[in-house]
Amino acid sequence: MKGIILSGGAGSRLFPLTLVASKQLQPVYDKPMVYYPLTTLIEGGIREICLISTPHDLPRFRQLLGDGSAWGLAIEYREQPRPEGIAQAFLIAESFIAGDAVTLILGDNVFYGGEGFARAFTEFQTGATIFGYHVHDPERYGVVEFDAQGRAISIQEKPKQPRSNYAVPGLYLYDPRVVGITRALRPSPRGELEITDVNVEYLRRGALRVHRLNRGFAWLDAGTSSSLHEASAYVQTIEKRQGIKIGCPEEAAFRRGFLSLPQLEALIERMPRCEYRDYLVNEVVAEARGEAKDRPA
Ligand code: DAU
Repeated sequence: MKGIILSGGAGSRLFPLTLVASKQLQPVYDKPMVYYPLTTLIEGGIREICLISTPHDLPRFRQLLGDGSAWGLAIEYREQPRPEGIAQAFLIAESFIAGDAVTLILGDNVFYGGEGFARAFTEFQTGATIFGYHVHDPERYGVVEFDAQGRAISIQEKPKQPRSNYAVPGLYLYDPRVVGITRALRPSPRGELEITDVNVEYLRRGALRVHRLNRGFAWLDAGTSSSLHEASAYVQTIEKRQGIKIGCPEEAAFRRGFLSLPQLEALIERMPRCEYRDYLVNEVVAEARGEAKDRPA
């Protein structure tokens, strides 16, 4: 399974924050926003990652994430000159996907909650897997409708009259057919290749699975000034209360076995003295050495 992080777009809703740095580079509490989706991919066991952004912003992402080798990853970069739709990611990254299965995650989606996606990643074989998350304002999202047996029967993009309260979050798993399916799409009235149209096609083929995410799982979108602030407050609250970090790629890569303990220690050695480094030393490394008390999974 390969991974794509889509981090383009104009970021106009965050103006003037986005005049210099793109939305996905803004801080969500103590880390750049893109660290959160990156960590979600690592937790899913994905090592080969392609980050897509605008020609203007791509150099900053390269500066931040490099080639990924520090975390045991291989990160490639591709440009999306104009925001012509989320699904365009599959056409831009076609040579990266190279006939494999692929997970797409939006660079401004923050997920938190233990085993949320784990089963979907391990069980994925073919077709498409997406998620349903209960929200009070489904009209802002892709909305999935279920029948009495819990099977998905329709998906609509930002419907005025939503048929359910289940929004589709920005994390999608596809088999290699996704490239051909996207190529056959027409742009929507808003001029975009819609990810919802990709999902509708998988549904039509009887090849779509929808996992409902349970209560207690957090999906935060950080697309407006208020939601960015709320996401930061949420992360701060959990981190302080539990003494853990959300969206820490070093920790996730170590736990996944992408980094050995000596590699993690060498990485920490290169960090300046700061709270982030203290966390890795006092919690993650100490636990690995059997020096820390039991910590939550
Ligand atoms: O957040 C989940 C929702 O994301 C889904 O429920 C919807 O089905 C899906 O269409 C999308 O909704 P939005 O239309 O609100 O997404 P937005 O245009 O805000 O784009 C989401 C992120 O993807 C944003 O950070 C910018 C980036 N993006 C978007 C487009 C259209 C790109 O990098 N390139 C693009 O062409």
